[in-house]
Amino acid sequence: MSETGQFPKMIDLDASRAIDLEALKLQYADKFASYTPRDRPPLHQMPTTSTALPDGRARKYKLEIFPPLLNSSSPWATTVEQIQELYDCEFTGAVTTRTSLLEGFNHDPDVHQHVFFPAGQSATRTGVPKGDESAKTLPDAAATSSLNTYGYSPHTLSEYLGFVNEIVGQRHLGTSTIRKKPFIISVTGTPDEIAMSFALLANAAEMDEDLRLAMEVNLSCPNIDDKPPPAYDEAMLKEYLEAISDSKSTYRGRMAGPDSVPKVGIKLPPYTWKGQFEMVVKCLVEAKSSEPGEGSVIDFITCTNTLGSSLVLDDSLKPTLASEAGTGIGGMAGAAIHPLSLGNVATFRKMLDKHIDTEEIMIIGVGGVEDTAGFERMRKAGAEAVACATALGRHGVDVFSSIIKGE
Ligand SMILES: Cc1cc2nc3c(=O)[nH]c(=O)nc-3n(C[C@H](O)[C@H](O)[C@H](O)COP(=O)(O)O)c2cc1C
Repeated sequence: MSETGQFPKMIDLDASRAIDLEALKLQYADKFASYTPRDRPPLHQMPTTSTALPDGRARKYKLEIFPPLLNSSSPWATTVEQIQELYDCEFTGAVTTRTSLLEGFNHDPDVHQHVFFPAGQSATRTGVPKGDESAKTLPDAAATSSLNTYGYSPHTLSEYLGFVNEIVGQRHLGTSTIRKKPFIISVTGTPDEIAMSFALLANAAEMDEDLRLAMEVNLSCPNIDDKPPPAYDEAMLKEYLEAISDSKSTYRGRMAGPDSVPKVGIKLPPYTWKGQFEMVVKCLVEAKSSEPGEGSVIDFITCTNTLGSSLVLDDSLKPTLASEAGTGIGGMAGAAIHPLSLGNVATFRKMLDKHIDTEEIMIIGVGGVEDTAGFERMRKAGAEAVACATALGRHGVDVFSSIIKGE
């Protein structure tokens, strides 16, 4: 840097001249040697939003995710290989699985599909490749949004617990996976099935006290034809919270210690008006744990899922995707929902902080994050940890290092 605080002008942008980079580097060798890039705080010094409540009291979330970055539930966390890769990535603080059912889901690639599309155009070319191929063929810089008509994973919950066992089991064989990185197992089903899912998780946690398991109950998939997302409906949401409360109190006593008790979160859809936020927060306040001092039975909320009822057409005005209902209507995510997801996170953080039983509910912020700036916006809005799905589908696990390193 010069005495004036300016970086030297490295390259004369005269288009008529070929630039010999090696010669330039030699010429400016002394400047390169003394140049230090602008500091980004190392991971362990990253400011957290969690240390203090608005009134100055200390806050401690019940789920720890460090670094505060992870994948959100998606088809890119379906197989044991994908989950292992996410687990081994040093830039993820936890791994979320694709949503599973006790009995598995009948996945049909001719019906359950996704496409990446440029948000500014909300359209695709006729015959645009669907599934993961679309990430490879669309101009990467433009196709930052996604539409999907997926249901759930073809693998059962028990299979996912088997994957976790396989991945963490390797740690005991001396491989590099030595941290207690949490696995967030995404599940869905009826309230009774969710209670049973918690029992399965608790059982797995009981057998290996080093496991850090959390259950994320997906109450917000917009793509199941005859089943609206339960988190939009107060009566249904309450039923789920009661089932979670019952199974948590049944299994708590059997765990080796408080850290082994699987933490429970709910995956919420994007909300658009005040009454909806109030309804959710009221349910969370009412779902008080039977354990003294624990507050709500819900340890974290993940918001947001995709925005349902969205449609992308190709240039012959036909739906780009197939879907269960045959309309091609599905859930939108990526850049197109980022402002809505940010608004949901900010609104929930403010409202949760107003009640002693909900102030320690952690928020995992999701929706359109694909770079450091998006990550920082989510944290500023009140997300303790930040997750991504669309960007993972487009860039693979390298997206996490580029978000953390700002590259
Ligand atoms: C192709 C695709 C499939 C998804 N499947 C699931 C799922 O099985 N369960 C779930 O909870 N969320 C699912 N989601 C939602 C994401 O987890 C995330 O909440 C949403 O896409 C917003 O994040 P993003 O903008 O980073 O994609 C899916 C998203 C995409 C794009």
